[in-house]
Amino acid sequence: MCGIVGAVGARNIVPVLIEGLSRLEYRGYDSAGIAVLAGNSIERVRAVGRVAEMQTRAQAQQLTGEVGIGHTRWATHGGVTESNAHPHISRGEIAVVHNGIIENHDQQRQHLQSLGYVFESQTDTEVIAHLIHHHQSQGKSLLEAVQGAVTELTGAFAISVVSIHYPGQMICARQGCPLLIGLGEGENFIASDVSAVLSVTRNVIYLEDGDVADISQSQVVIMDATGAVVERTVHRSDLSLASLELGPYAHFMQKEIYEQPKALTDTLEAIIDDNAFSPALFGREAEEVFAQVDSVLILAAGTSYYAGLTAKYWLESIAQLPTSVEIASEYRYRKSVPNPKQLIVTISQSGETLDTMEALKHAKSLGQNLTLAICNVQESAIPRASKLVLYTRAGAEIGVASTKAFTTQLVALFTLAATLAKQHGRLSTEEEQQYIDGLRHLPGSVQFALNLEPQIREWAKAFSNKFHALFLGRGMHYPIALEGALKLKEISYIHAEAYPAGELKHGPLALVDRNMPVVVIAPNDALLEKVKSNMQEVSARGGELFVFADADSHFTESEHVHVIRTPRHVGVLSPILHTIPVQLLAYHAALLKGTDVDKPRNLAKSVTVE
Ligand code: G6P
Repeated sequence: MCGIVGAVGARNIVPVLIEGLSRLEYRGYDSAGIAVLAGNSIERVRAVGRVAEMQTRAQAQQLTGEVGIGHTRWATHGGVTESNAHPHISRGEIAVVHNGIIENHDQQRQHLQSLGYVFESQTDTEVIAHLIHHHQSQGKSLLEAVQGAVTELTGAFAISVVSIHYPGQMICARQGCPLLIGLGEGENFIASDVSAVLSVTRNVIYLEDGDVADISQSQVVIMDATGAVVERTVHRSDLSLASLELGPYAHFMQKEIYEQPKALTDTLEAIIDDNAFSPALFGREAEEVFAQVDSVLILAAGTSYYAGLTAKYWLESIAQLPTSVEIASEYRYRKSVPNPKQLIVTISQSGETLDTMEALKHAKSLGQNLTLAICNVQESAIPRASKLVLYTRAGAEIGVASTKAFTTQLVALFTLAATLAKQHGRLSTEEEQQYIDGLRHLPGSVQFALNLEPQIREWAKAFSNKFHALFLGRGMHYPIALEGALKLKEISYIHAEAYPAGELKHGPLALVDRNMPVVVIAPNDALLEKVKSNMQEVSARGGELFVFADADSHFTESEHVHVIRTPRHVGVLSPILHTIPVQLLAYHAALLKGTDVDKPRNLAKSVTVE
């Protein structure tokens, strides 16, 4: 969602803030701003649009300062305007940046207006600035004012605050949104994401919910929700700076699509090295937890939800465990029947998606305590709130449209299915070896699929001038059709829908004509002949078919039936392989349409609001 960064040093920290914001820009990109303490005043620069525009203004204004905060915004309360951009300032004395949502902002606004505060924006954040100012005007220190204000705020937030009355100090607080402190030499930083501070430090402290931190150049003091001073572990981040750079690629999405063989290899390393599926991969308690499990409930959002839908096929066919998959934001608001023996699996690239986090909390409140997180970001909130964790090792994913995170989630989930099957006595030694061999060869097969790019680029021309597209799949390839449609709509803005191919005749067939390209995921599996019949239904109505097949599925090309074959047949792992061509198709359609591939309009990478 939004990104925040802050610094307290003995040098001009404006370049650090700007670099941090450009690293965070993938989280929110409708406006950006920074504020620094300058003697008896606060100097602020804000701009609608990208960080680069704000940077140009900051340079023109020759903004400098040793203490400051910055923000990239993804609008929730109030439109995309400069006056709604952060930081927000109260009476020229206090500046605040904020990530999250203040739920009681209306009541607070009325209360503060009655005290004489004048609001300049429509944001919920301005409420925080005035509330802290109000507390400070009652004679409290900045720290006490922040501690007092946060107890009056409901919702999820991470904030950082500076005041002209406390020139060497920055106070930050976390409640439900990620926030970390970067420890430097004679300078300290805060950020919502480690990527923002990597150029200045690798030593970071992740704040816990309820924490308030008092940060100066030389020290960091953290207090928990009760106000007691607490020690939090210092972590050393091993995220590589190169993983945050584009390198020779045109877009992060392209880079991340091409990184998939490595991301899969890294994620599979332990399994391949051990040549076995072992519960230990999921944590110390996994063997005991898995032994109790009688079913699985998967909770996730967006692309991660589609990973869950794919996993259902593996969990039911390989582990023979009844599996349900539910959109996190739906599950958390409905009455369900809790089963304490059910394994709750959350899937999240970022580990901070609010809907998924809240769904996990809801499951736990119902006594469902056998929890496992599949996550790509170490130490993020969702794995920290789960009993078991399997980290995917995709590396930083910057493109808003998820690619390598999805395929690594799929191998993690396949590993889960095989591990549960083994522990429940449903996996023979031969099957285990067969699956491990399949996983071992998967990165190579994915590389072959990437080599199809020139043909897929040609196909994209048939999509870029269309308004709609249909994606069809059957069985475990249906979720890949869903993911293909999502990728296309997210980044090219072409309306795309996915259907299980057998459902075509029950409605969507009415849409089929020359202007509706139909993509079919049709590798050789038990349903291939059925898919071929469904394709006949499209051809008979004049539809144009674009078929992703594999080496073993025999199709005859014709004027209106185009076929691209992935060179290998990878059996039960085929959904992973067939994700690659649909990613490339969306990427090239978007390029032809000239959209902003890495930062599609209206979207954000990590959605930390409802
Ligand atoms: C956002 C992103 C999607 C992502 C979804 C879930 O909508 O734009 O790419 O799939 O959130 O994110 P998560 O981090 O929980 O996997």
